[in-house]
Amino acid sequence: MTADELRKKYISFFQERGHAVIPSAPLIPEHDPSVLFTTAGMHPLVPFLLGEKHPAGNRLVDVQKCLRTDDIDEVGDFCHHTFFEMLGNWSLGDPAAPDGIGTGYFKKEAIAWSWEFLTSDKWLGLKPDMLAVSVFAGDQDAAFDQEAYDVWKSLGISDSRIARLPKKNNWWGPAGQTGPCGPDTEMFYWTGDVHHVPEQFDPDNSQWVEIWNDVFMQFHKQSDGTYKPLMQKNVDTGMGLERTLAVLNGQDDDYQTELFIPIIKKIEELSNKRYGDFVDSDCAMRIIADHVRAASFLMAEKLEPSNVEQGYILRRLIRRAVRYGKQIGIQGFFTVQIAQTVMDIYQDTYPELNQHKGFIQEQLLREEEKFVKTLERGVKIVKQYARKLHEEPQDLGKIVFDLYQTYGFPLELTLEELKRNGVLFSSPELHSLFEEKLKHHQELSRAGAEQKFKGGLADHSEQTTKYHTATHLLQAALRTILGEHIEQRGSNITAERMRFDFPYPDKITPEQIKQIEDLVNRVINRAIPVTMQEMSFDEAKQSGALGLFASRYGKRVKVYTIGDFSKEICGGPHVANTKDIGHFIIMKVESIGQGLKRIRAIVE
Ligand code: SER
Repeated sequence: MTADELRKKYISFFQERGHAVIPSAPLIPEHDPSVLFTTAGMHPLVPFLLGEKHPAGNRLVDVQKCLRTDDIDEVGDFCHHTFFEMLGNWSLGDPAAPDGIGTGYFKKEAIAWSWEFLTSDKWLGLKPDMLAVSVFAGDQDAAFDQEAYDVWKSLGISDSRIARLPKKNNWWGPAGQTGPCGPDTEMFYWTGDVHHVPEQFDPDNSQWVEIWNDVFMQFHKQSDGTYKPLMQKNVDTGMGLERTLAVLNGQDDDYQTELFIPIIKKIEELSNKRYGDFVDSDCAMRIIADHVRAASFLMAEKLEPSNVEQGYILRRLIRRAVRYGKQIGIQGFFTVQIAQTVMDIYQDTYPELNQHKGFIQEQLLREEEKFVKTLERGVKIVKQYARKLHEEPQDLGKIVFDLYQTYGFPLELTLEELKRNGVLFSSPELHSLFEEKLKHHQELSRAGAEQKFKGGLADHSEQTTKYHTATHLLQAALRTILGEHIEQRGSNITAERMRFDFPYPDKITPEQIKQIEDLVNRVINRAIPVTMQEMSFDEAKQSGALGLFASRYGKRVKVYTIGDFSKEICGGPHVANTKDIGHFIIMKVESIGQGLKRIRAIVE
């Protein structure tokens, strides 16, 4: 099946059921400053989900261009994209009974139609025994979606193919902080071995690919975080065009569909590499294909690369594509050629690409030129900074911000270069450090000299308490991974981070660092209570507690125990349960002389 056949089938199916076709809204929202891009079909329809009358009626069908950058790091695998097309059908509180029978257009109708469209030979003809679904399990905000569950059962889906999942998986919206939202039911297709389709649906198995999502918008999230039932009950469904196309053609890689093959071919030609040969170059090719495609669609809406808002994302997409292009050996400027392929693929479906061809080419070329200059200069500068960072790791946020501010070196690339120069950090943490700096910078400019700085106070805040317990876990993990002889030589905790020094003259490999980090996180995730007992110092020692600073303690000491993993003499304070710590991340491991190593870590 071709992409166009799929779009057309979808539209006709719902047209036959009384839906009016509406055109895709732009990727850059016209009237909504709360989000940068249209991330889903629902987004341009929010006013109508809240009760405003849509001129085309209350049953709609569309193919919406979407752009999401929240999982940009996942782009590079087989099924994630920044830009994608979403097929959607909508009930805007449609109270009419379909075909004069039934109760209106809500869960029952939406699910039954999804099932029919997916499985009927007249439509997609997917095999029912390769489909599975998930429904909302219920929580303190909203009940288990019994209705959706019952509809699936009535359609013949077995219990083993219906997963009940929490909000994280089976809830959609709101698009911003507040607004319409609700439980959803998602449909998955088995892309693994057709002769061994597991009876039990496992949503964590990535061979079950999500292709469609029916959202039942029956709540409104308030600014205080509570959920109020919506007067108007809506249906918002979203089917990923690229993924579904792959599935229909028996492929487990979206980049092998007709929507991407010409782009991949172009990249093969330019790089002189074959798609499928190496994991790394394949991944780079997918990133280039995705990013140039997304960038082209953004520029077709006359967006220019810049340092702010949408323009910054566009800049990132182009620059990232260029970076990966260089990595796989593409010589010279190349994004214009790839964009041409994108325009050819979509010339009939999205004529705006060709209409803005000159603009797109000009912007790409200009950005690529700028970037190559920045890169040459930046790589050298980052190297110098990386050296500095080995001495002053606490300056990481500041340095990353300086590079952005002074040299226009994009955050992401700074991070990649720093990594290449052996500086360890966690990306989410640094992103937030960076944003913090940016905000701080803006506040400073506003408040000028009135700004006051607070800091350095030793405290027993929630945050430092987490670090105290994390320090015990780290010590225990080091003893497990590197050897029982490890013992603490020094430790320093602030509300932002922890530092831990210990003797270990050998090199610590990245694998070992990962093992240590993983072990600490496993213990955190086991949700072990942290218990405390008071005893004499000798009793403590006899019980096997670590206590390396005997002179600091009085006669009676406190011993903190964390399951069978850690037992230490310590003054506290500590969290009540390891799960309170959150996620533990090692930012840096360094030698500080005299055979000592220093670990810097954070929790978030
Ligand atoms: N809004 C939902 C999604 O994006 C369904 O369209 O998955």
